[in-house]
Amino acid sequence: MNQELPGTLLLDPKVIQDPYPFYRQLQSHAPVWRVPGTEVFVVSSYALLTEAAGRVEDFSSNMLCLLYRDERGLPSRLPFDDSSIQALATADPPVHTVHKRTVFPEFVARRMALLEPEIVELATRCVERALDNRTVDFMAEIGNLIPITIISRLIGFRNSDLDRLLRAAFDSTSLVGSTLSRQQLLELVTRSNDIGAWIAEQLAVAVSEPSEDILSSIGSGVKTGALSARDGIVILQTLLAAGGESTTSLLGNAVRLLADDQDLQRRLRRQPELIPAFVEEALRLESPFRSMLRSVPKDTTLGGVDIPAGATVMMFWGAGNRDPAEFENPDEIVLDRPRRHLTFGRGIHFCVGAPLARLEARIVLTTLLERTSVVVLDPDQPPEWVESLQVRRHQRLSMQLAPR
Ligand code: HEM
Repeated sequence: MNQELPGTLLLDPKVIQDPYPFYRQLQSHAPVWRVPGTEVFVVSSYALLTEAAGRVEDFSSNMLCLLYRDERGLPSRLPFDDSSIQALATADPPVHTVHKRTVFPEFVARRMALLEPEIVELATRCVERALDNRTVDFMAEIGNLIPITIISRLIGFRNSDLDRLLRAAFDSTSLVGSTLSRQQLLELVTRSNDIGAWIAEQLAVAVSEPSEDILSSIGSGVKTGALSARDGIVILQTLLAAGGESTTSLLGNAVRLLADDQDLQRRLRRQPELIPAFVEEALRLESPFRSMLRSVPKDTTLGGVDIPAGATVMMFWGAGNRDPAEFENPDEIVLDRPRRHLTFGRGIHFCVGAPLARLEARIVLTTLLERTSVVVLDPDQPPEWVESLQVRRHQRLSMQLAPR
């Protein structure tokens, strides 16, 4: 049956725009699918994603390569020439355990919650400014601005240039988007070194003048030797991308789902206490990180499929979240559905930023719904998706907002 699915489907631009019929095909024919002609395997069923996420010895988070679209239209691997990167999200135990303890001490969770008034203020300012115009690109005016501002505050960057940080966050996820040509990917790798140098300077300042933020936790980890300086920089880059880009996608995806459904909009205006449940459905239906990579250190099997040592596995969280074997009416918004989506991953790497992402989404949606009577898509400019196998984010989301 595998043979019936051409490998080029994975990176077909039309499939990337609307991947859900393809995910369904994979789930029914090949929930562990070896992309023909490659060493790349795609996992798409909820049950097998959950299993693989728990088998960390077989499915390692170490990043050994990046993927690009080769001239055949298939995913090819660009191996790292020095060593693999093992830093927090890309580390396995026991290194992962040390990194997580060092970077996220108790106070980080507290600080996330304390950011609430700041997020409310920022969301109010952005929404009110957007209302001056009636037609706005939600991403440019609201969606892109809030998460990068907040993550920069949480990390503790000093004198941040937010535009530059946002570009760096988007670049980081383009690196793992798997749709660039080899040449484009190599150029991007070079460009990403710039922000690494700036982050190194920030880390040096935090080592000499610590305060209560993530930058200082990492600085003290470097000082005690729990982390190398390179680990610290990679972790900060990951946090910037994870915190800056993913929530951006969530905000846009949620607002687009709302714009598509006027009944739901009216219901949430009447019953704002349902907004958190809607955020969960937006997370499930349009998972901001649709897939993530694993590497395979030794021969193994998953779902009865042999996977050789050295293979690269793509964990398609976004497919598992619409698996009909797990979710009844998987393509519909059901507000009282039990919360068990895979959007924030599973197991030891479960997202540490999930409470912050949920908080930002709840505040932005509440603010927008409170201040508008109608939110609709701009009929002249349909939404555009970023072309990526990893992120599900609107490049542009032009909308018309009617104030209350
Ligand atoms: C809607 C927003 C977000 C989504 C969809 C998301 C998704 C994910 C996923 C799927 C993972 C698991 C990675 C894996 O298994 O390989 C993860 C891990 C992680 N996320 Fe998030 N994330 C979001 C927001 C954030 C925010 C705001 C932060 C920072 C405050 C953050 C920081 C991290 C970190 C550091 C990890 C690695 C944790 C570890 O390896 O132990 N994320 N995220």
